[in-house]
Amino acid sequence: IRHLLSTADLSRTDANLILDTAEEMARLTSGRSVKKLPALRGRTVVNLFFEDSTRTRTSFELAAKRLSADVVNFSAKGSSVSKGESLKDTALTLAAMGADGVVVRHSSSGAPYRLATSGWIDAHVLNAGDGTHEHPTQALLDAFTMRRHIGDLEGRRIVIVGDVLHSRVARSNVSLLATLGAEVILVAPPTLLPVGVEQWPGEMSYDLDSVLPDADAVMMLRVQRERMNAAFFPSAREYSRRYGLDARRFGLMPDSAIVMHPGPMNRGMEITADVADDARSVIVEQVSNGVHVRMAVLYLMLAGADENSADAQEAVA
Ligand code: CP
Repeated sequence: IRHLLSTADLSRTDANLILDTAEEMARLTSGRSVKKLPALRGRTVVNLFFEDSTRTRTSFELAAKRLSADVVNFSAKGSSVSKGESLKDTALTLAAMGADGVVVRHSSSGAPYRLATSGWIDAHVLNAGDGTHEHPTQALLDAFTMRRHIGDLEGRRIVIVGDVLHSRVARSNVSLLATLGAEVILVAPPTLLPVGVEQWPGEMSYDLDSVLPDADAVMMLRVQRERMNAAFFPSAREYSRRYGLDARRFGLMPDSAIVMHPGPMNRGMEITADVADDARSVIVEQVSNGVHVRMAVLYLMLAGADENSADAQEAVA
């Protein structure tokens, strides 16, 4: 894999290779004391974050360090971006420092594509979330988490609920889950569905109660107020009454079904605190699994067939 920009670029074989490699990373590094693997020794990974992040940035950093890479954390806040420096000049500056992999989050959809295809840099580009477009490693860690709890995703019913319009997590998940053979059911207010959603794989519903009894996993999405015009903010009370996951709705789900959320959560809006903290909520586990999945993609993209490959093969043998 040269770049990881969209889950739509992944075949089922690619996706399963990443998920199986993530299982291997988990096996090799979990336990009482976390072992570091030498696979990316001598490599440099740059975390290029133009938009805020807690989970994605820290887990990419941890993943790269567990593979023995050198890590540079770049945040637009406090950098020369605030003096007006462009994406191109920022990228050229980081490339001049010898980045092998660039993990980029940007508020503009398409920014990682621009980096990957512009010829400005020679590094592998990993999309860590671009605008409302895609967040491929989030979808991969979600699939990894689902696979661990509900097994093979072929034929499984995954309900994705909420602000689909602004959700890069939903876009990446819909595409990856279709590739893995799952059935996706989108549930959202009509105002929070994107134009053209009818062409997406899967089904749509406006009635959350009716789809919960057949769900294998229910993924709640954050209501992204920062991407909405204030005039269109849904009222928290009305939104949670119609689309929130509370104890009553949780009771409609099969006992084996899991609750997911990519974070950060608006507790009390799309999900109540008691459901978020229930034993069948895997929200915190999603975060831990993100490290294994990001180790897998960094390894598969950067270890490559070069002088590091002997170390890399040894690391996962
Ligand atoms: N899920 C997710 O992308 O979280 P962060 O914004 O904290 O990275």
